[in-house]
Amino acid sequence: MKRNVWKLIARPNGINFEEALELVEEEISDPENGQIQIKLKIISMDAGTRMWMSDRQDSYQPPIELGSSMVGVCLAEVVKSSNPAFSKGDLVRGFGEWSDFANVDAESFLVLEKGLDCDEAYLSALGLNGWTAYVGVMEVGKPKPGENFLVSAAAGATGSLAGQIAKKAGCRVIGLAGSREKCDWLTNDLGFDVAINYKEENLDQALKKHCPEGIDIYFDNVAGDILNTVMQNLALNARIPLSGLLAQYNKEGARLPGPENFDQILMKRATITGFFCPDFLDDGPKIETLLAEWYKDGSLKFKADITEGLENVLVAYKKIFTGENIGKTLVKL
Ligand SMILES: NC(=O)c1ccc[n+]([C@@H]2O[C@H](COP(=O)([O-])OP(=O)(O)OC[C@H]3O[C@@H](n4cnc5c(N)ncnc54)[C@H](OP(=O)(O)O)[C@@H]3O)[C@@H](O)[C@H]2O)c1
Repeated sequence: MKRNVWKLIARPNGINFEEALELVEEEISDPENGQIQIKLKIISMDAGTRMWMSDRQDSYQPPIELGSSMVGVCLAEVVKSSNPAFSKGDLVRGFGEWSDFANVDAESFLVLEKGLDCDEAYLSALGLNGWTAYVGVMEVGKPKPGENFLVSAAAGATGSLAGQIAKKAGCRVIGLAGSREKCDWLTNDLGFDVAINYKEENLDQALKKHCPEGIDIYFDNVAGDILNTVMQNLALNARIPLSGLLAQYNKEGARLPGPENFDQILMKRATITGFFCPDFLDDGPKIETLLAEWYKDGSLKFKADITEGLENVLVAYKKIFTGENIGKTLVKL
């Protein structure tokens, strides 16, 4: 049997993914002992995977070797099983490949309940983004009612959930997003108190206007210039859960300089804490239960930005870095 799979053939330069990835057809054998063969239904596009396309050795995940398949979280159906814990027809989620079929180690996959109103939720509110948002807000940010909570990439998969969770914790929530349409979604549909279009407004002035008493928690998905501007608007004892470095991912070989306003960490007795959601797996049952409860009662919402077809995966992936996506970027097969 044949399958189609995206292979990393070169290190990308910026967002020139067409030169770095190639869709190839190859043979797929039966799954080996302990493995399952999956037919992919939806592939999750995640900004963090951009780091693994680069050659840097000091990331939290080693780089993908050239010639290997591109990897990503996916929702899939089991079509063949060599593992007694999995049956043909099971709906599963795990770390797969950008492909239509794959043989994967069953241990890294989880069987999911069928019949959810919208399967896409398993890759957003009930998946990695929900987890990241919860951990960053609750475990790292430690919000108190009435505090000013700011999040960048607020209309993206992770940021939109982080803002809603901070709102549940009683915070006043401010989102940064790159278009009027995104800002309207945040305030009209997700309950954000304020949304700032950082591409059109002067960010420093907007933060001073909307948070004159300073920002208590900044959930940072971006770093770079935005972090620097936020640092001159912190409240005393501010916390910065550092989720990601979108301003850096496409700059091959380059390191972002530390923020000029670094001295504000001392002046405001602030803390900045990098976090990686798999480190919080021990809290799994608690987080999963809460996210499911909120999703089912309609108080944790998400929007899916869907592109159809494995051949269009690069169109979808690019959206994350150009800002064209609203909500969770997915590819449906
Ligand atoms: N620490 C963890 O465990 C963990 C786990 C999952 C994800 N993350 C992080 O969460 C962040 C969001 O990832 P996601 O997959 O959910 O993507 P996403 O937020 O759905 O999409 C990315 C959004 O970021 C904004 N953006 C892109 N490049 C930017 C830049 N150079 N400067 C400022 N804004 C930029 C764009 O929106 P605008 O219109 O606002 O520009 C874009 O829509 C990433 O940093 C990712 O690494 C961390």
